[in-house]
Amino acid sequence: MRTSRLLFIPVILGTSRQGRMSEHVARFVLGELSKRDEIETTLVDIRTLSLPVTNAGEALKDAQFSAMMMKADALILVVPEYNHGYPGLLKHVLDTNLNEYIHKAVGICGVSAGGFGGTRVIQNLLPVMRELGLVTIFWDGNFSSVQNIFDASGKLLDQTYLKRIDKFLEELIWMATVLRYGRENILREK
Ligand SMILES: Cc1cc2nc3c(=O)[nH]c(=O)nc-3n(C[C@H](O)[C@H](O)[C@H](O)COP(=O)(O)O)c2cc1C
Repeated sequence: MRTSRLLFIPVILGTSRQGRMSEHVARFVLGELSKRDEIETTLVDIRTLSLPVTNAGEALKDAQFSAMMMKADALILVVPEYNHGYPGLLKHVLDTNLNEYIHKAVGICGVSAGGFGGTRVIQNLLPVMRELGLVTIFWDGNFSSVQNIFDASGKLLDQTYLKRIDKFLEELIWMATVLRYGRENILREK
């Protein structure tokens, strides 16, 4: 089932590191998502959100980010693996919302210099997604040895990723469609 209203799926670039290769991944995913007529998307660069670090959680709302999360039907997180975990700044940003995420779909693209495609950071993020009320899918983006997938300018060198990301997006869009139908049509008593 596809609805006539566009699905809004922002892509969150989950690191502020100088020289981040994850930016190439985020721009690639954004580009593939943008090719689909039924989707509205935008890039959210967590580097541009100036949240203080003297507090945490929902006390720190960035109005524009919260409005975007409220409008979103699904999220794509592009997350580098740092010591098998996720960047602390990404968690800091995600923790500023809660109701905004509930019953929305999420897909994760793991990015690593090593050969495991960010599988360890993805596994570590799954319980966080659940606690935020996001609904995970059974397909991930795994960008192993990312330095070999893109050149320095961000050009895709390994064309196999086109097919892989297509499968990932298909699954995410299906889940986002189902969940939007549920949010809008299936009342919850409590
Ligand atoms: C603090 C830190 C820890 C890292 N830990 C890992 C790791 O556990 N496994 C891995 O494959 N790569 C690791 N890397 C390399 C990153 O995966 C690599 O930089 C990759 O390009 C994705 O991160 P980036 O978007 O910051 O470039 C680490 C990088 C940093 C800065």
